Amino acid sequence: MAIIIDGKELAKKTRQNLKIECDELKNKGINPRLAVIMVGDNPASKVYVRNKSKACQEVGVEYEEYLLDSNITQKDLIDLIKKLNNDKNINGILLQSPIPKHLDINEAFRTIDYNKDVDGFHPMNVGKLTLGEDTFVSCTPYGVMRMFEEYNIDLCGKNVVILGRSNIVGKPLTQCCLNKNATITVCHSKTQNTKKLTKEADIVISAIGKPKFITEDMIKEGAIVIDVGINRDENGKIVGDVDFENVKQKASYITPVPGGVGPMTVAMLINNVIKAAKNQNEKIL
Ligand code: GUN
Repeated sequence: MAIIIDGKELAKKTRQNLKIECDELKNKGINPRLAVIMVGDNPASKVYVRNKSKACQEVGVEYEEYLLDSNITQKDLIDLIKKLNNDKNINGILLQSPIPKHLDINEAFRTIDYNKDVDGFHPMNVGKLTLGEDTFVSCTPYGVMRMFEEYNIDLCGKNVVILGRSNIVGKPLTQCCLNKNATITVCHSKTQNTKKLTKEADIVISAIGKPKFITEDMIKEGAIVIDVGINRDENGKIVGDVDFENVKQKASYITPVPGGVGPMTVAMLINNVIKAAKNQNEKIL
């Protein structure tokens, strides 16, 4: 029976520690501040953004939100980002994805000042992660790495299979695991015989958005299973990519959904905002 990795509890502890850091900054006259841009009214994004704003409030990070109409032009979006780049009171900028199809999200991410890119999506920060340099690591991969650290799971030499190759999770997570000397296999929709690969893995990380995709026959005895998926099942209940009840019988560690990776993503965002505020005030700290 697996040890359940308690993301909710670790995220709470992380927020408490961040609050101490945030208070120290405020005592020095620095008020960490995050600006969030959301375009249109994607229901899932609304939930994520609400969670981000609640976490900011709890830690004491100032928060401002820009809710843009789904018909906004690319130019107006870019102009807003540039305005926020130039605003000295704002330390972090986050553009919630997805955005409507007529807009170019990569151009928008590239426009965010990479010193304020708390999501780690700017090519400069993606490149720095690849080079193993200090940077803003995307929040979900960063949250997963914090979980490994907290539970003393050493990645060195381990076979890690990542399902999903998105720019937000799969690709940066691959890089994070590689930086810890793991051997990585990335599976995606064109991969042949995913099961053969996952069965060999010491660690399986799923970020594909398919309810109960990972079943117990896909993992080896004692594997570590990390579930990044947030899906709704046929009853509208939030579930991950992993058939949790069955897989937990065979795994050594497993993350639940909800209460696993999700809360860690939000905690690491706040971590990145505090880091941005510190970096931008290096001279006076
Ligand atoms: N959409 C889904 N996850 C994320 C995330 O971590 N950051 C942003 N900006 N958008 C997302």
